[in-house]
Parts: sequence; structure tokens; C-alpha cells
Amino acid sequence: MKGMDKFVQLSKEAGPIGVFDSGYGGLTIYDEIKKLLPEYDYIYLGDNARTPYGTRSFDVVYEFTRQAVDYLFRQGCQLVILACNTASAKALRTIQQVDIPLCDPNRRVLGIIRPTVECVGDITKSRHIGVLATEGTIKSLSYPLEIRKLFPEIEVTGEACPMWVPLVETNEFAGEGADYFVKRHIDNLLSRDPEIDTIILGCTHYPILIEKIRKYTPEGINLITQGAAVAASLKDYLRRHPAMDALCTKGGTTLFCTTEAGGKFGDQASLFLNYPVEVKNVVLV
Ligand code: DGL
Repeated sequence: MKGMDKFVQLSKEAGPIGVFDSGYGGLTIYDEIKKLLPEYDYIYLGDNARTPYGTRSFDVVYEFTRQAVDYLFRQGCQLVILACNTASAKALRTIQQVDIPLCDPNRRVLGIIRPTVECVGDITKSRHIGVLATEGTIKSLSYPLEIRKLFPEIEVTGEACPMWVPLVETNEFAGEGADYFVKRHIDNLLSRDPEIDTIILGCTHYPILIEKIRKYTPEGINLITQGAAVAASLKDYLRRHPAMDALCTKGGTTLFCTTEAGGKFGDQASLFLNYPVEVKNVVLV
């Protein structure tokens, strides 16, 4: 990792848990984590100035994610959650296998695709699953690959929804324009496999569109959002890794950081979280 290997010494002290997304979407994951594990300290980082990641190349998503993890490590986070499917699909493996061993082998970066996939086996009856996600996540084939590892008999069909993240980031998710794009992709997905009985919303922005997604999804089809599964998986991870748990400070605080103007982020974040937040502007390099 350019940059991380330049570290002379990262702090060995306990620090907050880092939660990263390309923008606001990761707040849907943070919100559930915070509800389940309120005693920990957190730093939420949204790279709003460069969102969306979903249409960007592998190299660019990796480089942006690397910079974000680098920033969170420098703030003292020993554990970072990539609360972004696109970053989990395109950057997680390289960061885990190449970069962390170079900078500090004791630090951990966890993704959100595996914990999401673990729960689907109990939910689908038809064994046909749909995945709605960004173009980057769909093209990476991360969902079908992870699902097949655990449930080889399940059929997986993916549909990229490139307009959904911009609808959320621009606060257009409740308007009529959103209906057109939401319906179109759900119809496309179900026409490609009419046996689908379970749809994974494989992008952390999509729960913000949940009302419209429900409106255009036929009754009887299960919709899977990720927040609760990721939070439960993190709780379990901390229980199984007491040494890492001891390196996560417990003061109940959260620092929200964005690469965009802080005021703009604060207004939007308050809408998603239903409470006001203080925001710090940061630069990623
Ligand atoms: N929220 C992110 C995800 O889960 C990506 C959004 C984007 O930047 O395209 O994939």
C-alpha cells in the first residue's frame, strides 16, 4: 500500500472503531452497529466528495479505500469496517492481504459482504436469490462467489442499479424520479429470474430507498438489508477476539468525518439518523 508502508510506527494504543463508506450509505450500517454496541467509540468517515464509487474502476476504488483506511488507522482505529459493498468487493482483499501486513499486522479491516451472505441460506425457499447493487459490486461477482461458497445450490442473479446511489446522495430518494429507476431495476431483476424469492439490497445506500423498493417488489419476496446482520457479526467478532476488543475504546462517542463540506454532511446525516451530528471535514491523500 503506497503510503501505509511509509509508517514508521502506528500507535499500539486502543482507539475507536472506524466505519467507512463512500458517502451517507454507511450510516445505515453505523446506525445498527451503534444500537447493538453503544458502549464503543466510533469514527464514521464518508468520502462524500468522491462518491459514488460504484461506477469507478477497480484501481480507483482500491486507492480511495486505501486512503480512507490509512486515515482511520492514523486516527488510532485498530479495527475498521468497510460499510460499503463496492469497497468490500474491490479493495478489501488487497488491503487485508497486502497492505495490513506492511503497516501493522495486528490491525483489522472487515467487509460486509460475507456477514450479509451468511444469513440467506435460512431465508430463501426457492433457492433463487437476487442481488441489487452498484455496477462495481455486480461486476466483481463477489456476491455469487461468496454465496456459492456457503450454499452451492443457490442460483444468484445480479442487477446493477447505477442511479440509486446518486438519488440518495442528492436527496432525491423520495421524489417521483426515484420511482422510475427503482421500478425499472426490480422489474429487470425479476424478469431475468421469476423464481427469485429473496432480494439482497447489496449497497448500504439502498435502505434509504426502502419505501419505494417495497412498493415495487411483489408481496412474498423477502428483502434483505445489511445493517442488523453486520452489527451482529461485529458483536460476535469482538466476542471471539478479546485482544481486539481490548483495543477498542469504550466511551460511547462518535466522531463524524467527511471529505465534503461538513455542514452539508451534517444536514443529510441528521435526516438518516434522526438526530443532529457534529461533523469534521477531512482530506484524504
Ligand atoms: N454504499 C456503497 C455500497 O455499499 C457504494 C455507493 C457508491 O459510492 O456507489 O456499495
